[in-house]
Amino acid sequence: MSKTAKLILESGEYEFPVIEGTEGEKAIDISKLRSDTGYITLDNGYGNTGSCTSDVTFLNGEKGILKYRGIPIEQLAEKSNFIEVSYLLINGKLPNEGELKSFEEKIKSAKELPEGIHNIIKQFPRDAHPMGVMAAATAALSGFYPELLDQDLSDEKKERIIPQLLGQMKAMATAFYRHSREKGFVKKNASLDYCSDFINMMFNEGEDNLEQAVDPAVAQALDVLLILHADHEQNCSASSVRMIGSSKANLFATISGGIDALWGPLHGGANQAVIEMLDAINKDGGGYKKFLDKAKDKDDPFRLMGFGHRVYKNFDPRAKIIKKACDTVLEKLGIDDPVLDIAKGLEAEALKDPYFVERKLYPNVDFYSGIIYRALGIPTNMFTVMFVLGRLPGWIAQWKEMIESPAMKICRPRQIFTGETKGEYIELKKR
Ligand code: CMC
Repeated sequence: MSKTAKLILESGEYEFPVIEGTEGEKAIDISKLRSDTGYITLDNGYGNTGSCTSDVTFLNGEKGILKYRGIPIEQLAEKSNFIEVSYLLINGKLPNEGELKSFEEKIKSAKELPEGIHNIIKQFPRDAHPMGVMAAATAALSGFYPELLDQDLSDEKKERIIPQLLGQMKAMATAFYRHSREKGFVKKNASLDYCSDFINMMFNEGEDNLEQAVDPAVAQALDVLLILHADHEQNCSASSVRMIGSSKANLFATISGGIDALWGPLHGGANQAVIEMLDAINKDGGGYKKFLDKAKDKDDPFRLMGFGHRVYKNFDPRAKIIKKACDTVLEKLGIDDPVLDIAKGLEAEALKDPYFVERKLYPNVDFYSGIIYRALGIPTNMFTVMFVLGRLPGWIAQWKEMIESPAMKICRPRQIFTGETKGEYIELKKR
């Protein structure tokens, strides 16, 4: 017998179906709440609201579990690669050899950036924040592919736009970096894997010089970081992507909105904020106490960046993998970054502090990622762009699942109005 939940209001008793996910989480299906009772729910920040059912990613914040399509993140980080993980997220299964090769080929042979996009990127001030450039350039792509803007994209067009966007996002990120450094663009090199090509397009010293070797340790470290960022179920940017996509906006516009949501320091922008905080501690002499006190002070808006998570209340499994990778990468590259010791000391100190213990605040994915990005030569203001590259397949998977669902509806939350009820227009001169 299916379970129900009972709601008692002054107007009567109502029953709502309880639905259960494959991992045992339970939800009360309130889709008929307003029509049956006249009430809506109110859930500031949506901490108790399921916006959809999804087969893509599972996470259990109490136990620190993260799985893409049922596969633990630890296994994927150790054995897979970013392109395979992208296929898995988007298509719902691991590819066989032929499928993987064909997917990779499609990304590699995806169209070069249109000249117009290069020109738009070149119009930005060199010190513009790259996240604004990425969002603008992604939305601008819509102008160059009118045939990919259909309300209901055919499977054939999805097969085209998805690998194209995966390839072009990398090209836009590297193009703006080159512009910011007053260097010419480097074209993609089809003989390189995704991460090596990214590094080549960023740092190749000669324009179109395809001979420059990419350190495999660097490419490998980047690959793991992108896997760890690839999806995280209904987070702020993925929910934005679903929200925008639910109006049947085209994929370029939808992803552009996801980039904007990710930019904020409480979300993807935290990776930049963490390294800036660690640098500030270093400059200040390396003592953490002052910063911990600031983070605990309710009159101070400062937060310990890279700490805390809406869902993880035990540990973030991605942070564990990254912390380990940090040691390995810095050692392999022979880099001695003082902020790594500061980060470790700060973490240890915070984890002993009752403020952080009571609130179940642990390091999140962004606490150590910036140290690796910096070791790889990626400038601080590009850290969140790296998150974009990693998260893109997750956004696409969430969007695809939504638009292909027969249950899809435009997302349109309600509100409880608390404003003025008897307003009257007053002529300008009389105000
Ligand atoms: N430093 C100090 N106090 C904190 C922190 C922090 N980093 N995070 C949460 N708190 C406190 C908060 O002040 C509140 O205290 P009280 O109960 O006394 O009012 C309590 O912990 C609960 O915090 P919350 O703001 O209600 O929690 P939330 O789920 O709304 O916010 C968060 C989650 C990630 C936005 C928050 O922990 C935060 O601001 N962290 C720092 C920014 C950060 O690292 N963001 C990256 C998140 S992981 C990557 C991603 O998903 O993009």
